[in-house]
Amino acid sequence: MKLLDIYAKMKSDLDVIEGQLARSVTTDHALLSDASTHLLKAGGKRIRPVFVLLSGKFGSYELSVLERIAVPLELIHMASLVHDDVIDNADTRRGQLTVKSKWDNRIAMYTGDYIYGKALAIVTELENPQIHQILSKAMVQMCIGEMEQIRDFFNTKQSVRNYLLRIRRKTALLIAISCQLGAIASGADRKAANLLYKFGYNVGMAFQISDDLLDLLGTEKQIGKPPGSDIRQGNITLPVLLALREPAIAEELQEQINQIQLSNGAGETKRALNLIRKSAGIGIAEKMAARYINKAIAALGDLPNIPARKNLTDIAHFIAKRSY
Ligand code: IPE
Ligand code: IPE
Ligand code: MG
Ligand code: MG
Repeated sequence: MKLLDIYAKMKSDLDVIEGQLARSVTTDHALLSDASTHLLKAGGKRIRPVFVLLSGKFGSYELSVLERIAVPLELIHMASLVHDDVIDNADTRRGQLTVKSKWDNRIAMYTGDYIYGKALAIVTELENPQIHQILSKAMVQMCIGEMEQIRDFFNTKQSVRNYLLRIRRKTALLIAISCQLGAIASGADRKAANLLYKFGYNVGMAFQISDDLLDLLGTEKQIGKPPGSDIRQGNITLPVLLALREPAIAEELQEQINQIQLSNGAGETKRALNLIRKSAGIGIAEKMAARYINKAIAALGDLPNIPARKNLTDIAHFIAKRSY
């Protein structure tokens, strides 16, 4: 089944989540309301809520419970994007101006904090400390991942292991716990929750690798921001690290990256992009993403064979090949 068909099947429940998301950030305070609904209205894949709901099918599925996980997870994701765009100095997201660009960095700080606060208000309606602890640990890890992203800007000497550790923290863990918490909140057994965590973690790693590939290979229309944004901002991603190991292009690529750091130039970004696109790093990164997808699908193998399992498999395949 295609991704859109899976979404279509879940439409009525996803509509409920969408309504809750909008209500959750709406407030009398005009500026907070405008800034936080700005990103929400711009769209997005809502993949974390989808994972929560599908994982909830492995227990006793109760939308009124699962929405208290799905909505906060999407809010936490959104808040992290508002802050991430400050860190990455990004002007566009989801085809729209970022909060930091439409308003400014200070407004973005408190818009993100406000959205985090709203997420907490909803998730704490579930009186289960295990859920709160899992969520807060993942949030702490995400902060560390983003801090490491700042530390590693323009560091072309970082190892692949360093990159993998960073994306585990900033992206994969939140996707892992979307699956795990969906299972826990619906009372699925421990084994199922652990397998779903493993699925989400591996899918999450592939998800960020493909995000980084798309930044290099996608069109502005597909990715909602100019291609090459990562390298222009100094975010050295997996395909770039791999390309820097290729003797034929290493020196020239390093030189372009040095120039970008000095002048933030569009010309150098374009030249760096051309080098990376031709490099073997692209294919190797694609293979690494595919390996994570295979691991994710293998984790599903030990779960009961219900329709949600097939849906999760199909989403994993979509992530391996995604173009948005
Ligand atoms: C973007 O996440 C940031 C990453 C963790 C890669 P998504 O690709 O899920 O963003 P939206 O929500 O669909 O815009
Ligand atoms: C993901 O990193 C952001 C977070 C997990 C907070 P990116 O910096 O790659 O995300 P995009 O590309 O800006 O969406
Ligand atoms: Mg970013
Ligand atoms: Mg990115």
